[in-house]
Amino acid sequence: MLKQLETIYTNALNELDTITDSDTLTIWFRQHLGKKGEITLALRSTADLPKEERAAFGQRANVIKNDLTAQYEAREDLIRQQELARNLEEGAIDVTLPGRRIPTGGLHPATQTLREIYAIWADMGFQVFRSRDVEDDDTNFTLLNIPPHHPARDMWDTFHVATPGVILRTHTSPGQIRAMHAYGENGTKPVRVILPGMCYRYEQISARSEIQFNQVEGLAVGHNIRMTDLKGTLAEFARRLFGADKRVRFRGSYFPFTEPSIEVDVECILCEGQGCPVCKYTGWLEIAGAGMVHPVVLQNGGYDPTQWSGFAFGLGPERSTMLKHGIKDIRYFWGNDLRFLEQF
Ligand code: PHE
Repeated sequence: MLKQLETIYTNALNELDTITDSDTLTIWFRQHLGKKGEITLALRSTADLPKEERAAFGQRANVIKNDLTAQYEAREDLIRQQELARNLEEGAIDVTLPGRRIPTGGLHPATQTLREIYAIWADMGFQVFRSRDVEDDDTNFTLLNIPPHHPARDMWDTFHVATPGVILRTHTSPGQIRAMHAYGENGTKPVRVILPGMCYRYEQISARSEIQFNQVEGLAVGHNIRMTDLKGTLAEFARRLFGADKRVRFRGSYFPFTEPSIEVDVECILCEGQGCPVCKYTGWLEIAGAGMVHPVVLQNGGYDPTQWSGFAFGLGPERSTMLKHGIKDIRYFWGNDLRFLEQF
């Protein structure tokens, strides 16, 4: 029995010497020192030995057990240190590797179109005038020849705020009044501006209409400004934005603040006038409302309408962007979906 024990001991020590990883070490422990390990079982069998052998065997088995436990712990330490050293080496950071690129944002598609529009109008002598998003009822409607209770107010579903008389502008046209006062010097100086900015309407959101969208208003006030000036200027603008070969047409319309009023169409840029779902098979796309500034509006801007005249227009940059890129749903613009935005 004792001889068998010594063999187990020697083998265990030899095996332990070759172990270099903690998984194998665990298996070794289970085989020798675990609950059903060889040494544990040997110790337990002491009781079955003839009486005179018990003491010597028991003593020796205990010494072996203690020694193997100590050797095991030493080995465990060694392996842990080796693994740590290996981890440090493998996990070393190569500081010469190039860093991860920080993605750079792009311009929002509406912003891109706005900038194109600014450039075209700047070229034609129109400067940018920024008017306010939060307007008063008077400037948004009354001064634009839309008195309270006038049925024309139905054309714009309005966001009101808690303060009476304060609203979110439903169009950029109130900026006409503010620009005339800012630059007109009491109706003595001409004005040529564009007024870009957000407009807000209390509407059902759908693929075709949003509760917020940009408009670019245009206003020219001077002596002898006529309808032909408006037509020529808008036609030139449309050709620059959509292409020199595009035809433009003007349809009679109605706005309370212009007289006469028109709507401006450009030949459908997708089907080139042939008719397609985007132009609803008409061959034409509407790009602006416009007209000659109404005498009442000129007066409200400080001008004498018998001496001064002007034209005004309102463009929808999101609409133009949709037409240009074949975007079918206006909700993409303010939906903050990167999959959409990253395409521009
Ligand atoms: N403000 C008008 C709208 O929102 C557009 C427009 C602007 C029409 C200027 C004529 C002149 O529908």
